[in-house]
Amino acid sequence: MMQTVNTIKELRELLQDRNVKKVGLVPTMGYLHEGHLSLVDEAKKHCDIVVMSIFVNPLQFGPNEDFDRYPRNIERDRTLAKSRGVDLLFVPDINEMYPQPVITTVSVTGITGRLCGKSRPGHFDGVATVVSKLFHIVQPDYAFFGQKDAQQVAVVKRMVEDLNMPVEVVSCPIVREEDGLAMSSRNVYLKPEERAQAKVLYQSLQHARQLINQGETDPAFIQGEIIKLIKTRDRADIDYVEILTYPDLDPPDQIKDNPIIIALAVKFGKTRLIDNVIMDPGKREA
Ligand code: PAJ
Repeated sequence: MMQTVNTIKELRELLQDRNVKKVGLVPTMGYLHEGHLSLVDEAKKHCDIVVMSIFVNPLQFGPNEDFDRYPRNIERDRTLAKSRGVDLLFVPDINEMYPQPVITTVSVTGITGRLCGKSRPGHFDGVATVVSKLFHIVQPDYAFFGQKDAQQVAVVKRMVEDLNMPVEVVSCPIVREEDGLAMSSRNVYLKPEERAQAKVLYQSLQHARQLINQGETDPAFIQGEIIKLIKTRDRADIDYVEILTYPDLDPPDQIKDNPIIIALAVKFGKTRLIDNVIMDPGKREA
């Protein structure tokens, strides 16, 4: 039976007699889809107790972003979480998480200066702060994150290392729709024509992967190819397309031996979508 709790006190009471049981945390902002639920599947492989949090964290949204209209449907989320085997659903409200003005934050520098960190100033401080709070509240042995938000995984892993947090961060593959579009709670915003055009994002990443597998090593050339392809869709407004080393997120001179990420953020109407592929050109794929 899944239990839902809204307060930190109740959650701690339920988890205090955990004995040697392994606890896994799946942090989310809700409006669940297969991407979130795949994290639960992975958590169940490692852990005896799976805790999912649902909290739309105001700290990680910029002033002109979609905090107010972020999709929410807690009843639907509860049904999905329960059917997938979540043991404890933690749904705090804003006052529970931020009862006082926030004057203590966690800030990861360097790797947050690029990609989404550059387009969304302060975003990753908001993420690092809330994830740090959730780690302190739940004290999980494992925490599960999606590679969909690859920079987020890099930031959380680095925070855990730098601050010696006793949790193992597990990153899980991107779950996609049938046409390749990465699943996202924000996909519901897309108008039909935008939704149809959005599949160009994964197509362009696959094209890039193919070029690299065929031996292309020039990052600027590949970046140009991706941009060209995306620009064939008239609703697409590119925020960034970047090729960087992963997880350090430095621009490589050449794509050769080290793991890289090809990451992009593109707006369709008001909806900003992100996607990426990570590959290790040292080990060419078929
Ligand atoms: P949210 O966007 O709800 O995502 C919750 C988790 O689900 C993240 O780890 C994200 O990477 C993962 N996820 C989303 N779409 C996915 C997909 N298509 N395939 C695989 N995993 C996917 O990310 C956040 O919330 C927040 O920043 C949070 C970590 C909860 C902090 O507020």
